[in-house]
Amino acid sequence: MLYTCVAACILAGCSPTGDDKNAVIEQKVESLLKRMTLEEKLGQMNQISSYGNVEDMSALIRRGEIGSILNEVDPQRINTLQRVAVEESRLGIPLLIARDVIHGFKTVFPIPLGQAATFDPQLVEDGARISAIEASSAGIRWTFSPMIDVARDPRWGRMTEGSGEDTYLTSVMGVAMIKGYQGDSLNDPTSIAACPKHFVGYGAAEGGRDYNSTYISERQLRNVYLPPFEAACKAGAATYMSSFNDNDGVPSSGNKFILRDILRGEWGFDGMVVSDWTSITEMISHGFAADAAEAARRAVDAGVDMDMVSYAYYKELPQLIKDGKVKQQTIDDAVRNILRIKFRLGLFDNPYVDENLDVLYAPAHLEAAKRAAVESAILLKNEKQTLPIPASVRTLAIIGPMADAPYEQMGTWTFDGDKNHTVTPLKAIRELAADKIQVIYEPGLSFSRDKDTKGIAKAVAAASRADMVVVFVGEEAILSGEAHCLADLNLQGAQSELIEALSKTGKPLVTVVMAGRPLTIGKEAALSSALLYSFHPGTMGGPALADLLFGKAVPSGKTPVTFPKSVGQVPIYYSHNRTGRPVTGNEILLDSIPVEAGQTSLGCTSFYLDEGWTPLYPFGYGLSYTTFEYDNIRLAADKLSVSDTLRVNFELENTGNYTATEVAQLYIQDKVGSINRPVKELKRFQRVTLKPGERRKLEFKLPVSELAFWNIDMKKTVEPGEFALWVATDSQSGEAVPFEVTE
Ligand code: GLC
Repeated sequence: MLYTCVAACILAGCSPTGDDKNAVIEQKVESLLKRMTLEEKLGQMNQISSYGNVEDMSALIRRGEIGSILNEVDPQRINTLQRVAVEESRLGIPLLIARDVIHGFKTVFPIPLGQAATFDPQLVEDGARISAIEASSAGIRWTFSPMIDVARDPRWGRMTEGSGEDTYLTSVMGVAMIKGYQGDSLNDPTSIAACPKHFVGYGAAEGGRDYNSTYISERQLRNVYLPPFEAACKAGAATYMSSFNDNDGVPSSGNKFILRDILRGEWGFDGMVVSDWTSITEMISHGFAADAAEAARRAVDAGVDMDMVSYAYYKELPQLIKDGKVKQQTIDDAVRNILRIKFRLGLFDNPYVDENLDVLYAPAHLEAAKRAAVESAILLKNEKQTLPIPASVRTLAIIGPMADAPYEQMGTWTFDGDKNHTVTPLKAIRELAADKIQVIYEPGLSFSRDKDTKGIAKAVAAASRADMVVVFVGEEAILSGEAHCLADLNLQGAQSELIEALSKTGKPLVTVVMAGRPLTIGKEAALSSALLYSFHPGTMGGPALADLLFGKAVPSGKTPVTFPKSVGQVPIYYSHNRTGRPVTGNEILLDSIPVEAGQTSLGCTSFYLDEGWTPLYPFGYGLSYTTFEYDNIRLAADKLSVSDTLRVNFELENTGNYTATEVAQLYIQDKVGSINRPVKELKRFQRVTLKPGERRKLEFKLPVSELAFWNIDMKKTVEPGEFALWVATDSQSGEAVPFEVTE
């Protein structure tokens, strides 16, 4: 319900905060601002990264030179630094302590891309709430999350941190995390300020190479990349982070259009904007500023309130103000935004953390992390019901470099995760099944990039002695995340050779992939009887995978991104435009081309001679141990006005033998528009759990107003005309059901 409400709220243009407590806070902000010197104001705009020397940092804090510290996570040291700010600086303004709590603080959840695969916003919100409880217990009150950059290029290492390729799924998951982090009220001591990032368009880095330029038109920004950030604003996100990339030649940290016109002007955002790490002075490298002074001027004028670690604001703004190149008003507004968040967080009333809190790795937290890892796993193949592992299996071979890799399993952005708390698949399988079956373990390779094949023979020998083989492959954590982009998405090292050798034993082969992105695993999938994909599943990935492999849990994950057959197909995503030459399905591919084929004999449509036009696995795809049937898809009305709500009724039946959960998806196509519209777009989804044989009547409701898009006149509007919808198990299934929107 909530997520529908947020979507509706986007249309209502409701204020992101709007509570009357603000009036009191505004008065406090103004009265404090009046007492501040220019240096103290600039100090609030200055964020440093903790460098460990408490005395040194205390001296800066005492002088009022620091407004925020990131990367300090020791509660005692945080209290010591906070005490200096509150009790020894002239005005006693508390520090804002920040950290990248991206998918957990100590209890590490699946990477955000894996959490998106759950299509379960409530689960994601619960995970963010737990992350906030753990992080705030250390004194952290601000996280640089959720990362809601729509990403359609798996070469980009940071796809791992977001919710994938789809605007709607990313919006829903971003709102869920914000609600989890910020709780019911920001001034609750367990609440931490969210920071939707990276504003905006960072996921469209050309070539999938991090920090690279983007060339996104305003219309594409508004239809694809901005909606998750707008949803975040309507959900009350307290802060935003400007992104590293330049879009159409303008670095985001100097982009007035997105930071002032859209974020504050159109959406009414009244929180605080922080730059990314040195992204202000990086505008010199961009060639957008000649020096630090110009970078500081362009950033503060554009609407960046706080400078993350470049010190450009603190050093350059005094002279710029003196020279009249930056207005005092601009500084005051930035400081207002910072103080407002500090008041909303209750830091003035409650600046210190209770150093005796012991909430880390609480059993309930670990249980939630396990549930998230279960729901994030995607069953991509299961020939002849290979899985779950049958009781007839008496000897199981566990193979591969990711079977017992506690550090790698946590994935990227886990600065505070402790691998000693990770439960690996090997450990979990031994615990779960050792009294029933013999488990043989041979890694075969020492790590995911290992090219040394000497261990493969022992792995094959172990497999030959077993009734079934489960091989764990994928990526070390370092191979995805910031600045970790790949031009080739095949399995690293000798992992593919390992799988090939194992397949030659003739034993049923289950491949489990733990990675930070979709990999081009078509060859390995063909060699496997079953394939389970687990985007770095976190602390409890092992128990989750053990439960799934033995049928104690049933996979329900769906792909949040398209899996390409080869990297040459990238970018490849489901909600693409039709083009003037869409494929017909009769295209002739490479191996079928006759010698001396005529120039136009292969079909002049949009496809690749070698890889065709379809992905390895489409968006929204995932199998179960059971089967589901969709039936009786009916519209309450097939002619609707813009003010109506589309109501789609359908029946779903569990036609298999396991109680399981299906993620039913609603896609919409706007057939003709004043601009080309995507072949389809996800607009709703719901998780439905059914017992074997159970059949249920279900409904999707979608306000027609949510079919609005930014059109040829750059107006957001619903254009009447012919539409189609699909209720289906993934983005490529189901039958189109027509309907019409009238004037
Ligand atoms: C990094 C990232 C950003 C992160 C920040 C602080 O460079 O781009 O996502 O929040 O710096 O660590």
